[in-house]
Amino acid sequence: MSTAKKSYKKITTKSLTDMKNNGEKIAMLTAYDYTMAKIVDNAGIDIILVGDSASNVMAGHETTLPITLDQMIYHASSVVRATSRSLVVVDLPFGSYQGNSKSALDSAIRIMKESGGHSVKLEGGSEIAESISRILTAGIPVMGHLGLTPQSIYKFGTFTVRAKEEEEAKKLLEDAKLLEDLGCFALVLEKIPAKLAKKVAESLSIPVIGIGAGNDVDGQVLVTHDMLGMTHEFHPRFLRRYLDLYSEMTGAFEGYISDVKSRDFPNENEQY
Ligand code: KIV
Repeated sequence: MSTAKKSYKKITTKSLTDMKNNGEKIAMLTAYDYTMAKIVDNAGIDIILVGDSASNVMAGHETTLPITLDQMIYHASSVVRATSRSLVVVDLPFGSYQGNSKSALDSAIRIMKESGGHSVKLEGGSEIAESISRILTAGIPVMGHLGLTPQSIYKFGTFTVRAKEEEEAKKLLEDAKLLEDLGCFALVLEKIPAKLAKKVAESLSIPVIGIGAGNDVDGQVLVTHDMLGMTHEFHPRFLRRYLDLYSEMTGAFEGYISDVKSRDFPNENEQY
């Protein structure tokens, strides 16, 4: 059993701050459906992210842009039904908050009301400050997301490491401080130099969770399907694979097909 599972019966935004203050690392993974969320929650994960990466992983889109608010609510409500311990963070999808702060609040309220999620995540810094403030004013916890923000992929042009240059690094640090000042309870940093991520984590009192941001942050997040080796065509340097489920599952499917074709399945004990 993980240390966190022993110490915290139910994870809240306060538990996460306590973990940072106690030097206990925070473990976060994605889930988009009931069965996966049940396994992840039972394993003792601290945060389940219903990421808009569902657009890639579940729907097969090239980017996260096409997923809708209704689809995010569907995924999030399935995850919430499975969860008894983890804090559930739900991504606000592209187009549901960039317009103005009123539409951002409306989207966040729909997520909270219709999915039962515990908090929302938005990508961006100063550009979306007003939206973040307004959501927070309604009592909805907000997680920030800086660095590589996949909803802006067409602005960046590539999925390469962000904030390598001084100017972008300075803006990222300023944005991180702004997000903390606004009242965000935590921050995700995606694909930035480890040195910069360390600086951000040391400068903030809220937990900083990294993905491709090195080890000197307060926690880590991975996309579950990637760490299980189900998405075998994706090989970023930051990804550690804990299983090769693509091969395992292929083997199982091939075995089943062969058993059906050869009339081995079902046998006498597998029938009524
Ligand atoms: O949507 C997602 O899975 C994410 C993580 C990569 C942090 O935002």
